[in-house]
Amino acid sequence: MLNVVVLVSGGGTNLQAVIDAVESGRVTNARIRGVISNNKGAYALERAQKHGIDSLCISPKEFGTRDEFNRRFLEAIDAMKPDLIVLAGFLVVIPPAMIEKYRNRIINIHPSLIPSFCGTGYYGLKVHEAALARGVKVVGATVHFVDEGTDTGPILLQKAVEVQAGDTPQALQRRVMEQAEWKILPKAIDLIANGKVAVEDGLAVIKEDK
Ligand code: GRF
Repeated sequence: MLNVVVLVSGGGTNLQAVIDAVESGRVTNARIRGVISNNKGAYALERAQKHGIDSLCISPKEFGTRDEFNRRFLEAIDAMKPDLIVLAGFLVVIPPAMIEKYRNRIINIHPSLIPSFCGTGYYGLKVHEAALARGVKVVGATVHFVDEGTDTGPILLQKAVEVQAGDTPQALQRRVMEQAEWKILPKAIDLIANGKVAVEDGLAVIKEDK
């Protein structure tokens, strides 16, 4: 049984997609052990509580230094004994010590087809504003392993979504969530929970035959 800890900062629609997929049996051999947020007002925390999932809030703002936050944050993560850590709209920089300790056991959902529209400054609506400004005809979402860079780790799953005439950034964001994010994030967790994923020479490999 894969112990999953989900890190959130906002509305939690990706968390909800994972909760629903686990509860419906679309994701097997996994359980959400806990949800951690840096934002006590995050609706994602309410989603967790409604489903009886342990949740806690820990923010850099509560600490005198970032190093102190990083230490206490990692302690909170370790206490939940995660096999997999899922970043679902988590807006705090992951401490390097945590990336090292949980190498290839942290995944992130990003609302673009990496390597497009990713990296520093590309998050939330900014991603979709940039896509519309560039005039791309296809966007999408990516699940990738987290390394020391920003959106640079091994890509595990991607799903494309068509841009439609007249799309606003908000409309495009919603379509990418509905048609891509909420599908590939649970799928990624299910693949990992069922031993079908390996990282080899810096590339994520899916072993569907397993
Ligand atoms: C999503 O668009 C996700 O791709 C990005 O942050 C947003 C989180 O939304 N990383 P939610 O909190 O899951 O609704």
